[in-house]
Amino acid sequence: MKLFQQKTTVHKFKSAGEFTEQYGIGKGDFILASKSIYEAYFAPQKLEAHVEYKNKYGAGEPTDVMIDALLADFRRTECRRIIAIGGGAVIDMAKILVLAGDYSTEQIFKREVPLAKERTLIAVPTTCGAGSEVSNVSITELTSIHSKLGLASDEIYADEAVLIPELLSKLPYDFFATSAIDAFIHAIESYVSPRSNLYTEMFSMEAMQMIIQGFKKIIEKGADYRMELLDEFLTASNLAGIAFGNAGTGAVHAMSYPLSGVYHVTHGEANYQFLTAVFASYQRMNPDGKLKKLNQFLGGLLDCPETEVYKQLEGILDKIISRKKLREYGMKEDEIQSFAESVEESQQRLLDQSYVKMTAAQMAEIYRQLY
Ligand SMILES: [Fe+2]
Repeated sequence: MKLFQQKTTVHKFKSAGEFTEQYGIGKGDFILASKSIYEAYFAPQKLEAHVEYKNKYGAGEPTDVMIDALLADFRRTECRRIIAIGGGAVIDMAKILVLAGDYSTEQIFKREVPLAKERTLIAVPTTCGAGSEVSNVSITELTSIHSKLGLASDEIYADEAVLIPELLSKLPYDFFATSAIDAFIHAIESYVSPRSNLYTEMFSMEAMQMIIQGFKKIIEKGADYRMELLDEFLTASNLAGIAFGNAGTGAVHAMSYPLSGVYHVTHGEANYQFLTAVFASYQRMNPDGKLKKLNQFLGGLLDCPETEVYKQLEGILDKIISRKKLREYGMKEDEIQSFAESVEESQQRLLDQSYVKMTAAQMAEIYRQLY
């Protein structure tokens, strides 16, 4: 049984200029970037690379249509090295560019074609959540099924992950908060995954600790204080990425996908809607397994009895972002059943990585509770 791997080399730089100089970024490089970040930190360097902005392909999280358009642009160039500068959406899209062949995004995500890596990818995250820079996963919405699908393959690992905390300093509070909560969910879900082990747990625990401590400081000192903690949050997100890259995420992520697919709720916010309800349901279904260890750990971190950890956690996270009823996002009552069924049908990879493998009926119960 494979316990752990970390294929991506991790680097940290003080500034964007230090990074581009060290890597000699220029002619022959294909940069996919978030426009505002590129203009603020990279455009002044007048790099000779081929640059495309993510918003040319569409707003929000990736779809197969967006990635197909990106593939078409990329295939018209001769570039061999790809640099992704952005949040999870940018990095997830760029991961598909490393693959050989002339295939469509749908063929690749449905694994109808062989996957072989033939180009280099450097991933530069500009949010503190996705962890995509160190995971072997790319997530896209398949427009034909209106839901998100993850492609997990070692062929799409970035070769290098480059952490530059200053790139987070223009991130609006909401994006910061939802991405940090996503990172926390990567850490907690991978901690209780059946694939977790001591190696992955160390990364999960450190990430949970750094994020909770950071949130406590932000609650105490105000939202602007996050600027003092950019390095910590970027690093914690990276650690959580390493943990879930090995052990996987589970039902929280799985259940969030129809909500973000149909109602375009951002990934971190959608995830947070399900976090405590899923864990409370795990607690009822199997209180004695790995969850006991998690609750002990969280009790220490949150300074409360083990029986109150989810309530305490909710108390902290609710101060960071708000939670809504699912109906407030536009969800309809008859979607309680159809969402649960679509998760069972299309998210088996994540359900297999969950602490308890839930049935459609159990998931419908959670949707109903949150509706
Ligand atoms: Fe996530």
